[in-house]
Amino acid sequence: MTSLLTFHENPPLSLYIHLPWCVKKCPYCDFNSHEFTSTALDEDAYIDALIRDLETELPRIWGRTITSVFIGGGTPSLFSVASLNKLLSALRARLNISSGIEITLEANPGTAEAEKFRGYRDAGINRLSIGVQSFDDKNLKALGRIHGAGEAHRAIHFAKDAGFENFNIDLMFALPNQSIDAALQDLQLAVDHAPTHISWYQLTIEPNTVFYSKPPKVPSDDMSWSIQKQGQEFLRVNHYAQYEISAYAKDKQVSAHNMNYWEFGDYLGIGAGAHGKITNVAEGKIERFTRHKIPKRYIELAGSESVITGTRKLEQDDLSLEFMMNAMRLSNGIPANLFIERAGIPIKKMEKELFLAEERMLLDWRVNRLQPTVKGQRYLNELLEIFVK
Ligand SMILES: C[S@@+](CC[C@H](N)C(=O)[O-])C[C@H]1O[C@@H](n2cnc3c(N)ncnc32)[C@H](O)[C@@H]1O
Ligand code: SF4
Repeated sequence: MTSLLTFHENPPLSLYIHLPWCVKKCPYCDFNSHEFTSTALDEDAYIDALIRDLETELPRIWGRTITSVFIGGGTPSLFSVASLNKLLSALRARLNISSGIEITLEANPGTAEAEKFRGYRDAGINRLSIGVQSFDDKNLKALGRIHGAGEAHRAIHFAKDAGFENFNIDLMFALPNQSIDAALQDLQLAVDHAPTHISWYQLTIEPNTVFYSKPPKVPSDDMSWSIQKQGQEFLRVNHYAQYEISAYAKDKQVSAHNMNYWEFGDYLGIGAGAHGKITNVAEGKIERFTRHKIPKRYIELAGSESVITGTRKLEQDDLSLEFMMNAMRLSNGIPANLFIERAGIPIKKMEKELFLAEERMLLDWRVNRLQPTVKGQRYLNELLEIFVK
């Protein structure tokens, strides 16, 4: 028997839209992305499918306001301005979208065009996330990227010229044969462009990727840790404040969309393979939804309930771990009362685990804040294991 969760109000609700095609699959990538072929990618059919998919979701989110939109992939910048215009107009017609909210689109430098970026801006996209990965041609080749460093710099110029004051640069570190100096040089070149945000990810070798079956020689754990420490310090002195494991923001311009995930807000996910998490206050439950991953099947099924391949109601026993998995990514942690607000359970229910985490010096629990210690940030898995039931 599961008891009901108690909420006073709905959490904030964001919208994620997945566009699943890429020019070429990168050997390290385990996202739901499929190589683009002109026969497989019918933009019109996909945009229509997204609209149908959204319409079937509306009853689940009646009356709620959308607080951010993220169009991710895959490579959303493969899509034409006309397609994105159609999509955004459809969202505005069907959803309650507050004015001025963050609307991000992921762009790959290999698909960047000045005119396209201007069109995206005019369509209402106000934040670009540019997948640079490295400014070194050697690294880009090793990562199987479709672009060189020159195109990465050029894409950033296009973004600025198009009026994107708010843009993120994605970089990765601990790349094959990468030295500390080379990693810092990538950060320097990123900082020189003065983005509002830098996402700096350690390359992870994911199952079901080419790198998993043919692993490249990557720096040792100690070396990767040194790169990370020095990079963090470099970004700090250059006014990029780290606020999450991989996220650094200038002048507090954090990613509103990602913050909502980490603060355990709700999100609607539409598109092939997209995930969603929706709280139902009246019924005292939180559910997670997954959608069909294969684009062709997704297009066929969008608009019917069968597009959803999995629905999982979060049980009380799952919630402390799920909440902490997100919240403990944040360097400053979160207000403790978000636990009852977002998970619908009094904090007393995880008091035992919180005390244990404190005792092991992985967590600080002060008055109204739960915050990972430096040790907790480094050994996040150890901290989270305490919350496994
Ligand atoms: C969903 S991808 C989409 C970005 C866009 N398609 C591109 O690659 O230009 C978002 C980011 O995740 C990061 N990423 C993807 N796979 C990764 C991996 N195995 N290890 C670390 N970071 C990864 C990359 O920095 C990438 O830009
Ligand atoms: S371009 Fe981006 S989403 Fe596509 S395969 Fe490469 S990393 Fe993955």
